[in-house]
Amino acid sequence: MNTRIITIDGPAGAGKTTVSKCLSQKLGCVYVDTGALYRGVAYEIQQQKIDWENDIALEAFLKDIDLNFVMENDTFVLTSSGKDITKFIRTPEISMLASSSSAIPQVRAALLDIQRNIAKTKDAVFEGRDMGTVVFPGASVKFFLFADLSIRAERRFDEMPEKTKDIRKVKNEMKIRDNNDSHRKTAPLKPADDAIEIDSTLLTIEQVVNKMIGFIEKA
Ligand code: DC
Repeated sequence: MNTRIITIDGPAGAGKTTVSKCLSQKLGCVYVDTGALYRGVAYEIQQQKIDWENDIALEAFLKDIDLNFVMENDTFVLTSSGKDITKFIRTPEISMLASSSSAIPQVRAALLDIQRNIAKTKDAVFEGRDMGTVVFPGASVKFFLFADLSIRAERRFDEMPEKTKDIRKVKNEMKIRDNNDSHRKTAPLKPADDAIEIDSTLLTIEQVVNKMIGFIEKA
């Protein structure tokens, strides 16, 4: 790999997205939210009512899916067949569906090439669950960002629109997703052996980013 690839893996709510955006801006490189790609797949599964237990239907669906993204100001804008689906992919329902559909090996295989193709030509910060372990085992620097469940749930809760606020529900769904993501057979969420682990429970975004830059400069 001739490009500089930084990977940030970790559970939901650990601060990956904010930290990754900030880091990519400081390093002047591309930012890729791979969770958004899995959310895009989940959204289309829902819209097209795909029966993912039917291998033939799943294969046809994955062959046709056409996800793309651009950064617009500070927003990772996701399109599916040219249609902007960004505002539909952050609901609790799509979060859960993304977590369960991402356990399907064919879904992961379909997104592997998209992710690796970007990295061939561009320096980038990739955030996800299996960036350091599976997608980019040769990445320049790998981070694993985590935090206590209660803090992560509080952070997610604070970001939510008023009407859907229920902290216990947020915490419970996060726990289920953590469990799904860490215990699936294919590419489970875990730190790569050579990942630098950072606990963000008591740190600000700025402190996390500065720590990361310190490690990147030394690499
Ligand atoms: O990062 P996120 O919360 O937007 O991700 C949504 C789901 O997608 C997450 O619960 C698991 C899945 N995912 C994955 O399996 N692998 C990735 N690299 C990124 C996300």
